[in-house]
Amino acid sequence: MFTWESLENACAQCRACALCQTRTNLVFGVGEKSAEILLVGEGPGEKEDLDGVPFVGKAGQLLDDMLKIIGLDRKTNVYIANVVKCRPPGNRDPLHQEQAACLPWLREQFRLIRPKIVLCLGRIAAGALIHPDFRITSEHGQWFEKSGVFFMALYHPAALLRDDSKRPETFVDLKNVEEKILQICSHTVLNKY
Ligand code: URA
Repeated sequence: MFTWESLENACAQCRACALCQTRTNLVFGVGEKSAEILLVGEGPGEKEDLDGVPFVGKAGQLLDDMLKIIGLDRKTNVYIANVVKCRPPGNRDPLHQEQAACLPWLREQFRLIRPKIVLCLGRIAAGALIHPDFRITSEHGQWFEKSGVFFMALYHPAALLRDDSKRPETFVDLKNVEEKILQICSHTVLNKY
């Protein structure tokens, strides 16, 4: 069994795929470790790789704004991680083999956090965590229950930056998340209540 510290140390030593050779920093995760809500992106981009923190670039700013709408933020009530912890060169999608090599680390983070809700940011995270042929355009906003944990995929904030027209649907998805939080999470979880 890992503690947070031993898990992060072990993850930093991982050589299970080649991404560790080209990364600057491990991007392990950020946020409240006892959060009831876990957010999962696909993998670090350039700024995340330089800072060692998930979602700190433009997409991260938008993510923070999205979370704020429903009373969530990375300092108090969510934990944010990625499917792969090292940056894929040139921001390409992580390969299946890289995702498979890295997922055990996310599984251990999941075991420590024991979230009630998992929000997958984009197609890659949804494909890795919900089901392999996930179609983000038709399946975003839907709940998938697995062993009492509720999973939903949202459009990736980088996709919302590229295509404004997806934002209204994402607002609806966020309100749906807020509703689920009110139903199944502790009453204090939302900062706005
Ligand atoms: N995109 C992701 O999926 N994860 C990050 O950490 C940053 C951008």
